[in-house]
Amino acid sequence: MSCLRLHFLLVLLLCCVFVSTVFTIDALVVELAGCRPDQIQDLKQFKNEFDSRDCNQTDYFNGVRCDNMTGMVTELQLPRGCLTGILKPNSSLFGLHHLRSLVLSFNNFSSSSIPSQFGNLNKLEVLALSNNGFIGQVPSSISNLSMLAYLDLTYNELTGRFPPVQNLTKLSVLGLSHNHISGNIPSSLLTLPFLSTLDLSGNHLTGTIDVPNSSFSSTLLSLRLANNQVEAQILGPISKYITLTDLDLASLNISHPIDLRLFSSLKSLLNLRLSGNKLAPASFGSHPDIPLNLNLKNLALSGCGISQFPNFLRSLRNLELIDISNNRIKGKVPEWFWNLPRLSIVTISNNSFTGFEGSEDVLVNSSVRLLDLALNKFSGLFPKPPHTLNLLSAWNNSFTGNIHLTICNRSSLSALDLSYNNFTGSIPQCLSKFRSSLTAVNLRRNNLEGSLPDIFYDGSLLRSLDVGYNQLTGKLPRSLLNCSSLKFLNVDNNRIEDTFPFWLKALPHLQVLSLRSNKFYGPISLLGQGPLAFPELRILEISDNNFTGSLPPNYFVNWKASSLQMNRDGRIYMGDYNNPEYNYQDTTDLQYKGLFMEHTKVLTFYSNIDLSGNRFEGQIPESIGLLKALIALNLSNNAFTGHIPLSLANLKALQSLDLSRNQLSGTIPNGLKTLSFLAYMNVSHNQLTGEIPQGTQITGQPKSSFEGNAGLCGLPLKQSCVRTNAPPIQQPEQEKEEEELLNWKAVVIGCVPGLLFGLTLGHVIALYKPEWLVKKIGRDKHRNH
Ligand SMILES: *[C@@H]1O[C@H](CO)[C@@H](O)[C@H](O)[C@H]1NC(C)=O
Ligand SMILES: *[C@@H]1O[C@H](CO)[C@@H](O)[C@H](O)[C@H]1NC(C)=O
Ligand SMILES: *[C@@H]1O[C@H](CO)[C@@H](O)[C@H](O)[C@H]1NC(C)=O
Ligand SMILES: *[C@@H]1O[C@H](CO)[C@@H](O)[C@H](O)[C@H]1NC(C)=O
Ligand SMILES: *[C@@H]1O[C@H](CO)[C@@H](O)[C@H](O)[C@H]1NC(C)=O
Ligand SMILES: *[C@@H]1O[C@H](CO)[C@@H](O)[C@H](O)[C@H]1NC(C)=O
Ligand SMILES: *[C@@H]1O[C@H](CO)[C@@H](O)[C@H](O)[C@H]1NC(C)=O
Ligand SMILES: *[C@@H]1O[C@H](CO)[C@@H](O)[C@H](O)[C@H]1NC(C)=O
Ligand SMILES: *[C@@H]1O[C@H](CO)[C@@H](O)[C@H](O)[C@H]1NC(C)=O
Ligand SMILES: *[C@@H]1O[C@H](CO)[C@@H](O)[C@H](O)[C@H]1NC(C)=O
Ligand SMILES: *[C@@H]1O[C@H](CO)[C@@H](O)[C@H](O)[C@H]1NC(C)=O
Ligand SMILES: *[C@@H]1O[C@H](CO)[C@@H](O)[C@H](O)[C@H]1NC(C)=O
Repeated sequence: MSCLRLHFLLVLLLCCVFVSTVFTIDALVVELAGCRPDQIQDLKQFKNEFDSRDCNQTDYFNGVRCDNMTGMVTELQLPRGCLTGILKPNSSLFGLHHLRSLVLSFNNFSSSSIPSQFGNLNKLEVLALSNNGFIGQVPSSISNLSMLAYLDLTYNELTGRFPPVQNLTKLSVLGLSHNHISGNIPSSLLTLPFLSTLDLSGNHLTGTIDVPNSSFSSTLLSLRLANNQVEAQILGPISKYITLTDLDLASLNISHPIDLRLFSSLKSLLNLRLSGNKLAPASFGSHPDIPLNLNLKNLALSGCGISQFPNFLRSLRNLELIDISNNRIKGKVPEWFWNLPRLSIVTISNNSFTGFEGSEDVLVNSSVRLLDLALNKFSGLFPKPPHTLNLLSAWNNSFTGNIHLTICNRSSLSALDLSYNNFTGSIPQCLSKFRSSLTAVNLRRNNLEGSLPDIFYDGSLLRSLDVGYNQLTGKLPRSLLNCSSLKFLNVDNNRIEDTFPFWLKALPHLQVLSLRSNKFYGPISLLGQGPLAFPELRILEISDNNFTGSLPPNYFVNWKASSLQMNRDGRIYMGDYNNPEYNYQDTTDLQYKGLFMEHTKVLTFYSNIDLSGNRFEGQIPESIGLLKALIALNLSNNAFTGHIPLSLANLKALQSLDLSRNQLSGTIPNGLKTLSFLAYMNVSHNQLTGEIPQGTQITGQPKSSFEGNAGLCGLPLKQSCVRTNAPPIQQPEQEKEEEELLNWKAVVIGCVPGLLFGLTLGHVIALYKPEWLVKKIGRDKHRNH
């Protein structure tokens, strides 16, 4: 079973919804002439304290500004990714006493703590040190910076208690999010007279906050406490910050449900995010009182355990974005919902919706641009899509009927995911209209028929196309060649009858190509061409087709090393899709024969070649031994002849090896017994002879893995290899093996400059999930000066 999946998550998070108040730092124009030479010297020396190979000299000084009277450096803004190294306490940076604005964000000071010498720069008004890898506590000397209005320490690894900011009475923006700061939020923070933005999300803060009870006049506009472990009592005080426009309280891990009516006092609130908290059902009754500010624009209530459609939304006439995904709402989406005049981004995915109230025109006049209906129980015909629609994700429902041609009446469409439904008919030709906007199309697992239309015209922006598991026939459209951005092409499990698409080599970014289980035929290697040379290909799935021919010995030479970026969770980064509004995921999860592995594990080491179920003949290419990261190799059900390549012994990570049902002869290379991770091996139904290598990984296999080879002997088979006075059978073999291996290595080293390290190919297990969504939050926050 194989399935590839693509889905969209609307970005309902800070980056687009909660636009923070950002201190303005003007684009700096270099007037280095106005700077004193000793100051310039200091700046140069500062750079030299680090690895600045990636730093552009011009850019470096672009962010410098000096006082035109004194010649002292007053502003320094480093370009991103300029410096790497430890920021030392004696850094010449701390000689720049006249700095008023210092922006070092997005450099790499990994494992430096923030030197207390920052306390000497006491003219600082702006200090931005985000995304720098700083560790340890914020030094107490920070309290010396009495002029500070803007302090950004977000996205570091800072620990310890809340930094001492209570004396920074000019502070307006304070960002500490995404660190490991623990303990209570000091109540003195709330007496800071100018504080307008406070971002403490993603720390380990606990407790509650106190609100001074007399003459309390808040200036706070934006408060973010998401992902902390604060106490429920914090909600009362928060409701007194009546000036708030943005409030993010997602995932607070509060034990009892939150009553939305708590926030009814916040009359200026525009953006509210409560996702990941339980909400009190009282908030949702059909009773008429509206718990929230009527001007609310963005509301995120994802994963709040909601079981009833929130009828109060009806009164929120300014609502632009609503996220009620990951709840338990049943029944039909009410008709009035689509009439909210400003509605633009809607995600109701992962609920139990079964349909739409109203006629099939119910959506047509809605202003929705991004619509995510995935993972529900919608059935029947898809209503006519809204005119304004730009992105539609409806995967995993039970929609039937043809794909609406009216989808092509939209002015632009950037992504369409109708996978895992029951759509029938053919793929609309008219989609060609969107060539300058469409980046992703996923129609996997429907009942579509006809051929993949030849609609990919010049200038196409398509990056991902998945039509797997349909009943498509015909050939691969040659116009795919116009999709120069294409990265991911999956047509598996159809009835496409064509030759191997060597021509796709011309696509400079193609990384994943799956042709599995179709009727492709002919050779996958062109005579005299040697290695398959797709420039960026990482994953090639071709099993269960009708491919023929032999593969030259160097077929696997120069295969792209597995340079796909692997995320921490083992998923593979496929690049972002440059849309600020939604996240986009290509996923593929496959199980493969012979070996069961937990998906997560496989993802981490994943690398696999599967050419099974074709009609390949000739020798197995020796160059297979170059693919050192291979964990699974399946060449079963072909007509390979000759010996099992000795180079297989180089595949030290190999966990699964299936060579069954070929015409291999000779002995099983003794070197295979050194493969200590080999959990599954099958060489049955060949013409192998001699002794089975007696290593524990091999003798532990079932007999069936070796049967159908008349000449094999030794465990786990019953036939013992008769040992008489004659020398052991393996001995000479082994010497020969080593010799051949050496020769092979020599050949390879001679002709390939850099040996392969790893490879991802074949019948694979992978999950592609760009993490940029997560990264974007906050990281880009201060970039839009
Ligand atoms: C360095 O930065 C300047 C100004 O941003 C730019 O014009 C120039 O092309 C950059 N040079 C290199 C080598 O990237
Ligand atoms: C110096 O800067 C001040 C403000 O920063 C500006 O008003 C003045 O015109 C500048 N003088 C010169 C000579 O550039
Ligand atoms: C800073 O101190 C280190 C030792 O900790 C020393 O090697 C380095 O030369 C000093 N740098 C400057 C600029 O004084
Ligand atoms: C920062 O630099 C360190 C040391 O050079 C390196 O190990 C680390 O990967 C870098 N981190 C990032 C995010 O680039
Ligand atoms: C705070 O600033 C004063 C000068 O205003 C300086 O003398 C002192 O060393 C600074 N304290 C710290 C801890 O940096
Ligand atoms: C804040 O200022 C007060 C009065 O000037 C002083 O006593 C206190 O130590 C300061 N607190 C910190 C953390 O610097
Ligand atoms: C209000 O503050 C005063 C002191 O400032 C305190 O005595 C009183 O108990 C507080 N009232 C409440 C209700 O917290
Ligand atoms: C949430 O709170 C419970 C106790 O109420 C605690 O056991 C659990 O670890 C907390 N979860 C997180 C993610 O902090
Ligand atoms: C769907 O929502 C539930 C909570 O209602 C959550 O546990 C589950 O993980 C979500 N499923 C997906 C695929 O996001
Ligand atoms: C949509 O708007 C058009 C033009 O304003 C109108 O004729 C049509 O009846 C509307 N359709 C629905 C279902 O409201
Ligand atoms: C699609 O339709 C078939 C029969 O028409 C049904 O068996 C199947 O469950 C449907 N699949 C989905 C995902 O609704
Ligand atoms: C494979 O191709 C041969 C002819 O080359 C044909 O006879 C056979 O039916 C094909 N097999 C499949 C499964 O398409």
